[in-house]
Amino acid sequence: MATLAEPQTDFTRLPTMADEVFTAPLRKPAHVGDDWLEPEQTAYSTEDDAIWDDLFARQMDVLPGRAASAFLAGLDKLDLGRGGVPEFRQMSEELDRLTGWSVVPVPMLIPDHVFFWHLANRRFPAGNFIRTRETFDYIQEPDVFHDVFGHVPMLTDPVYADYMQEYGKAGWKAMRYNRLKALGSLYWYTVEFGLLMEEAGLRAYGAGILSGPTEVVYAIEAQSPNRIMLNVDRVMRTDYVISDLQPTYFVIDSFEDLYRQTVERDFDRLYRSLGPGFTYANTAVIDVDNVLNRGTLEYTLRGGRGSGAAPL
Ligand SMILES: [Fe+2]
Repeated sequence: MATLAEPQTDFTRLPTMADEVFTAPLRKPAHVGDDWLEPEQTAYSTEDDAIWDDLFARQMDVLPGRAASAFLAGLDKLDLGRGGVPEFRQMSEELDRLTGWSVVPVPMLIPDHVFFWHLANRRFPAGNFIRTRETFDYIQEPDVFHDVFGHVPMLTDPVYADYMQEYGKAGWKAMRYNRLKALGSLYWYTVEFGLLMEEAGLRAYGAGILSGPTEVVYAIEAQSPNRIMLNVDRVMRTDYVISDLQPTYFVIDSFEDLYRQTVERDFDRLYRSLGPGFTYANTAVIDVDNVLNRGTLEYTLRGGRGSGAAPL
């Protein structure tokens, strides 16, 4: 059996790893069933389906002209607005025809190595539950609306789909070097909060931006945040904020560029050169940055969400 002490190349098998490389529970979490790797999708109520429809309609008011073309095309290809929470099996069949990916329902939290294992095999783990009316505007844990509406349309883009698989493979390597924080930053600033420069202008492709009504306007139009061209090395040394609008976004020219930067980088060397913590604050602009807009940081400096500052 392969272990993380030696290079892992068989991505079809879940690896066995030494305890010290883990930052998440090794064993099956107590609250999930024996089918925790690929459980059945939750049965949703009429109210759950209505919540999906209302969330969908709210996003469609703000996404045109702000969401990446590939994202909007993906929504169409998968027909995610056909009504109600999408049925994973049907969605997976359609996605499989397009890029060979599928979507698997998972409990709220899964260990890191299982998350990477799914991605490395072109399976996207999506949360099963949907938010309630009480948490309609903001939830911290990703629900099925964030995971499916936010992430899955991008998986219809062939190059982005390959990037996500490479990310999964990179995950096991990061665990071996105990550098999950650094790899987590790359996920954060691309998959969750990435911006793309299209011919028509700046657009969002990150699921954290696209699945909520406020950040998509702020990320594209506000004066406050920095917008810096993505450099993988730099991003992996940069801290990020989890529960507020980002002070800095990183912008790519194309998904080809993102893919190339990731697969061509020697991650063994990179991980060896990184410290366990972050070098740069999430507000920092540094000498090597190719800066698209230097933000005023007004929203962040006024105290962000807790202060009631306007996201301008
Ligand atoms: Fe997400």
